[in-house]
Amino acid sequence: MRDVVIIGVGQTRVEEHWGKSLRHMAHDAVMAAMKDAGIETADALYVGNMLSGELGGQEHVGALVADFIGLRGIEAMKVEAACASGAAALRVGMFAVASGIHDVVMVCGVEKMTDAVGDEVTSGLATAADQEYEVSQGISFVGLNALLMRRYMHQFDVKHEHFAGFAVNAHKNGANNPNAMFQSPIKAETYLRASMIADPINLMDSSPVCDGAACVILAPADGYRARAKAHILASAVATDSLAIHDRRDPLTLDAVALSSQKAYAQARITPTDVDLFEVHDAFTIMAALSLEAAGFAPRGRGVCMAVDNEIGIEGRLPISTMGGLKSRGHPVGATGVYQIVEVVAQLTGQAGKNQVQGARIGMAQNIGGSGATVITHILGGV
Ligand code: COA
Repeated sequence: MRDVVIIGVGQTRVEEHWGKSLRHMAHDAVMAAMKDAGIETADALYVGNMLSGELGGQEHVGALVADFIGLRGIEAMKVEAACASGAAALRVGMFAVASGIHDVVMVCGVEKMTDAVGDEVTSGLATAADQEYEVSQGISFVGLNALLMRRYMHQFDVKHEHFAGFAVNAHKNGANNPNAMFQSPIKAETYLRASMIADPINLMDSSPVCDGAACVILAPADGYRARAKAHILASAVATDSLAIHDRRDPLTLDAVALSSQKAYAQARITPTDVDLFEVHDAFTIMAALSLEAAGFAPRGRGVCMAVDNEIGIEGRLPISTMGGLKSRGHPVGATGVYQIVEVVAQLTGQAGKNQVQGARIGMAQNIGGSGATVITHILGGV
């Protein structure tokens, strides 16, 4: 297998892109990444996307985007793994380069959520859960996370206000990211006063519905070392049951643990070597559970990292360094690629006011469903 490096990155701002369609957003991100990499063509394009069929009536977005970016003829396909679609596309791109099948591969994550009305988006997002056993009971995706949060608060004697630090940190970092959806810091009081969505999850516990596209360009280290921005040190996937009630313990994300451990072993590191972590903070409870299962906090103590502000840019483990899913936004199928673009920014010293000083190893974790597909990538600086 060949070592794989990232030679270019591009992104659009995450927002409500009412004036742009899915193909336009993908085009903008891909063109920015190609310019960054200094290339005019590529061997293949893998598109991470979750909801194009469900919300836009448009599948077949691999060929759609390849044609629209002027590369009709190249290999292209969509990769889907619910909210982990972006990281899944990256993994497929890695397979292609590492195996020697292709040299230069583009991985684009793109999602268009805001052209649909609220109920349609809620139903679309619920396709990541178990239709037969969960969704048929009438529960939404936010509702499932609310059950987890309520159970966590009960079992570990945690109060809702203890989660505030996750939202405050994300918005603080998003304020310095010109590509973030929300660019205003919030105070703890804003969190406490936010309107309730599905008790105990309020507006500030939740990532938004939004649009966006991001792209990374992959190539083999041999031949492209001089143009490398970062090395992919590890890529690992693990799965769990879609339905939360089928799990060994609803408050332990086994797939996060397995995926993280596999990634640490591949990169030959331990959690203490990670300089920053782009965590899948779709909801504050997901951030807490992920920190625990990935080995950064003991069980029931992930939330303490927010309370003790260990997660800030200068903290023990900076997370959501460009705003995370909460503030940069969570255009679901694109999120995993945004996370990689942001880790590359940190490793190349391009993160501006949010720069983690001396960052050498960055981890990104993208979760599909409420923990059923977990994809971890670890990148190293050049
Ligand atoms: N955080 C902070 N502010 C938010 C927000 C969020 N997550 N979502 C919306 N807002 C703001 C909007 O900017 C808007 O502000 P304005 O009035 O100043 O313009 C206001 O809240 C209302 O926005 P709107 O789009 O009408 O919100 P909504 O009530 O329709 O939807 C949620 C809010 C939280 C219900 C929706 O974003 C949601 O369902 N999020 C979860 C998405 C999800 O499950 N993703 C998958 C996770 S894996």
